[in-house]
Amino acid sequence: MNFGAGPGTLPLAALERAQREFIDIEGTGMSVLEHSHRGSTYEKIHLEALALVRELGAVPESHEILLLQGGATMQFGMIPMNFLRAGDAATYAVSGTWGEKALEDAKTVAQDRGAKVLEASTAAAKGCYTRAASQADLGSTAGQRYVHITSNETIHGIQMGSAEAPFPSIATGGHLICDMSSDFLSRKADLAPFSLVYAGAQKNVGPSGLCVVIIRKDLLAESNPKLPSMLRYDVAAKGGSMHNTPPTFAVYLMRNVLLWLKGEGGAAALGERNAKKAACIYGVINAHPALYACPVEVASRSQMNVIFRLPSEELEKQFLKGAEERKMHGLKGHRSVGGMRVSLYNAVPMEWCEALAEYMATFAKTHG
Ligand SMILES: Cc1ncc(COP(=O)(O)O)c(C=O)c1O
Repeated sequence: MNFGAGPGTLPLAALERAQREFIDIEGTGMSVLEHSHRGSTYEKIHLEALALVRELGAVPESHEILLLQGGATMQFGMIPMNFLRAGDAATYAVSGTWGEKALEDAKTVAQDRGAKVLEASTAAAKGCYTRAASQADLGSTAGQRYVHITSNETIHGIQMGSAEAPFPSIATGGHLICDMSSDFLSRKADLAPFSLVYAGAQKNVGPSGLCVVIIRKDLLAESNPKLPSMLRYDVAAKGGSMHNTPPTFAVYLMRNVLLWLKGEGGAAALGERNAKKAACIYGVINAHPALYACPVEVASRSQMNVIFRLPSEELEKQFLKGAEERKMHGLKGHRSVGGMRVSLYNAVPMEWCEALAEYMATFAKTHG
């Protein structure tokens, strides 16, 4: 049972298909790894992957879908390099490590070109986050070029985009940009208000290195022409995400994962299932407050990454040891925050959550 934060569990059906087809795809006698990206075998897979992102994400026609490389981190730089012009200002809502990293790269770019990057942080103290950013945290966004948010903070277990912690908006004329790396297609989400959404694939939709970018066409047209071609969104779009040789195997595998997702009922069905999975784990935490403590405010608790601490590091070690003995892996929290982290991405089945919940309850009885 892999509860790791990413690369995370992928659907077995998607992996088994890859295994079956690995050395001979569609009777061509060649692996997908060996096919030209310009040939019909790969082209079909590439277009199917794009079409599945559009269908499963209900991506409006106003937006282009791009498959880029460099993971989500490449977007931390590409966004300001393309869209932050001299004299512009942008606000970064920061409620965890990933927002901090996006902010740092934006600052580096802004410094160079006379633009301003503002931080709207929810940290109670340095590095200490317990809630998602709200509209009030952003202050006035009038005249801002864009606002950057992180829908799910993977390390801190903080999520926005629910009725209790809604996505903020930006004043007319500005662009709302969201890092959805760790909750893309994990629930129903209206992408229309966003000018740009990006997601490293390795949590819910595929292998690492690949990044799905969904960008509104009017923003796409404003890509910075003074950048090298690989850093420009408009160049990627013009080439159908094949400006250079795409990561063909990663796209193929993502296609397999998306087909599985579609068969499971799509993002809305997964969202309901993921809510139940998360409720199962938060339920045990709430039932044993003397042993388990989740530092995140209830309204901002993530459905994807449940974090909690035990009263001592010694108990945490014992907890992890017992989990490993039960074949539950990847539960150790990120080294920067400690404690436990349970990642509940799409392919993690309910049965694993029930098994973990049962272990947590048993551990609480013997150690609480
Ligand atoms: C929310 C979020 N943003 C960005 C990243 C960075 O992704 P990558 O390693 O693909 O660059 C991660 C990775 O875990 C993440 O969780």
